[in-house]
Amino acid sequence: MMLPTLFLILSVLFSSSHASVQDFCVASLNGPETPAGFACKTPAKVTVNDFVFSGLGAAGNTSNIIKAAVTPAFVSQFPGLNGLGLSGGRLDLAPGGVIPFHTHPGASEILLVTQGSITAGFISSANDVYYKTLKKGDLMVFPQGLLHFQISAAGITSVAFVFFSSPNPGLQITDFALFGNSLPTPLVAGTTFLDPATIKKLKAVLGGTG
Ligand SMILES: *[C@@H]1O[C@H](CO)[C@@H](O)[C@H](O)[C@H]1NC(C)=O
Repeated sequence: MMLPTLFLILSVLFSSSHASVQDFCVASLNGPETPAGFACKTPAKVTVNDFVFSGLGAAGNTSNIIKAAVTPAFVSQFPGLNGLGLSGGRLDLAPGGVIPFHTHPGASEILLVTQGSITAGFISSANDVYYKTLKKGDLMVFPQGLLHFQISAAGITSVAFVFFSSPNPGLQITDFALFGNSLPTPLVAGTTFLDPATIKKLKAVLGGTG
């Protein structure tokens, strides 16, 4: 009586732990991304290059309206991250550059300044503000989902590397979300308390219509 029961329990334990132990699940980028990530690439086709991303050595192009560049090393660029709860990226801020208010719905962020000086901050759900001017070697953490920004604090180019607690943190930049869309100006005005002339002006600059 006892022995078969023990065998049953052990076999269930063994098979379930066996099923859950998988060294990695490199993303198969051909298929769709789901809330659980991408499907796994066939292990025989995995190479070391799936676990290495070489795209953060060069500065991003800051010739744009924000005078800044975000170079992502998310799972879409770096398939070895799939399922591991991590990703990274690089920020380049020319003098006067800014990463405007934005959120990463899926991850907390940690930022390391490696060159120049950056004023960074976030706003809590209670609308408390936490900001500081960071120098080379400083780390700052931004809790998941909260609005935050990084803005050049020096008259020189600044660089930071960022790391996220998700292989796909998501990125929604508030100004583009509010004014880079096709929501009619009266509705934007009604939902933001901003005057229509300002909204029209921002839509023109940020690519919105309506
Ligand atoms: C940077 O972007 C600008 C605007 O899109 C473009 O004109 C320029 O050629 C780019 N520079 C480099 C080095 O790619």
